[in-house]
Amino acid sequence: MKHLNIGLFGYGTVGRGIAQVISRAKNAHAGIGRICVRNLAKHTADTDHPELFTDNADDIFNDPNINLIVEVIDNAEAAWEIVRRALVNGMPVVTGNKAMVARHLPELIELQREHGTPLLYDASSCGSIPVIRNLEEYYDNDLLLEVKGILNGSTNYILSRVFDHGEDYAAALAKAQELGFAESDPSFDIDGLDALFKLIIITVHAVGTYVPPEKIFTYGIGHIHESDIRYAREKGVKIKLVAQVVKISETQFTMFVMPEFVSPSKYIYSVDDEYNGVVIRGECYDRQFMFGKGAGALPTASSILSDIMALRHDYRYEYKKMSYIDRPEYTDDVLLRIYARYTGTNLPALLPTVHVHEQYISKESNYIVADIRLRDLIECRAILDAPDVFIANIPQFFIDKDN
Ligand SMILES: NC(=O)c1ccc[n+]([C@@H]2O[C@H](COP(=O)([O-])OP(=O)(O)OC[C@H]3O[C@@H](n4cnc5c(N)ncnc54)[C@H](OP(=O)(O)O)[C@@H]3O)[C@@H](O)[C@H]2O)c1
Repeated sequence: MKHLNIGLFGYGTVGRGIAQVISRAKNAHAGIGRICVRNLAKHTADTDHPELFTDNADDIFNDPNINLIVEVIDNAEAAWEIVRRALVNGMPVVTGNKAMVARHLPELIELQREHGTPLLYDASSCGSIPVIRNLEEYYDNDLLLEVKGILNGSTNYILSRVFDHGEDYAAALAKAQELGFAESDPSFDIDGLDALFKLIIITVHAVGTYVPPEKIFTYGIGHIHESDIRYAREKGVKIKLVAQVVKISETQFTMFVMPEFVSPSKYIYSVDDEYNGVVIRGECYDRQFMFGKGAGALPTASSILSDIMALRHDYRYEYKKMSYIDRPEYTDDVLLRIYARYTGTNLPALLPTVHVHEQYISKESNYIVADIRLRDLIECRAILDAPDVFIANIPQFFIDKDN
């Protein structure tokens, strides 16, 4: 059996996890041949194998013994250069870099086709949960209606600590970082970008359409306040950061990332701490639920190992749904029901609501519960950045073909 000699880019949380997991996986017949990092001195001081490390990508690309690239660095643009170079040179790649994959997916698909070189990235969406390959293979038919879930472990950890344990938001964020769930730049998690990038990748494999990040409504948890938590508790629900892609008709789907009120009857209600949970809904089978660790060194490395093994068996994504004739089209012309809390910003005057169901005004804070078009939320996005504003989705049911 051919030995896989890995050129590893990145030796941080995930890179170190990969080194551990590979050393346990005898049937992978794989080893790490060379490791490229940003700051060489940081790594060569405390290792028995300083000769493995380099800060020059050429040392990997020019090494004739390297036959697989694993890319887990924390810089999306540098990662794009590395992965592009590998694919052009005919070197198969496994990556966990959701920001890079989500921003460059159309070009990455083209590069794979042009050079006949595979790229796998299941680790980029939900760490150890095998979402991508399942969507690509098992759910490769017309029955799929919706993929919805908690895709970001660090915001879920923070919300769990704040919501269930009454902890302070800043302390919960610091703990998430300390435990390695948070990205190097915490705003990436908090503002919903991490979940957005995962959702973009999931959407390509769920419905066969790439939607660029700037078109998708994304709102994070950074402005959550005690009054929002109190409101949710009174209603018997939890607030979770939820990403979803959902067919709203035979011909259209929509997608967005925002905090959502989740009732106890939902699978994702009990997805707490750093865990991720993904609900797949379809005709005939209703709902299926995948739960697991979406981040952290070893869970993410386990997914990278799974992709390495898949490559060993010549697996590659075929992107079959992208060539289906009846592909649904993305739309933001959809009505949502939104809880919107504010103090100074006059939200009822600024948001083009279709119908206001509830309005509450007090000295401390105010809120409305109103129907509003997703398109209008996108247009009013800047208003929602005001520090006194927080919004959450109150989920509506779009289509149910079985009833
Ligand atoms: N952490 C998770 O749980 C998780 C889960 C799923 C996916 N991911 C993804 O995996 C990737 C890595 O995450 P991480 O948490 O392991 O990050 P990290 O702990 O910050 O480590 C990043 C590594 O990248 C190296 N690096 C940065 N720029 C580089 C460059 N231009 N060339 C070579 N090496 C470079 C750094 O080198 P130095 O050590 O010398 O600074 C460091 O070793 C990210 O794309 C992230 O989104 C992470």
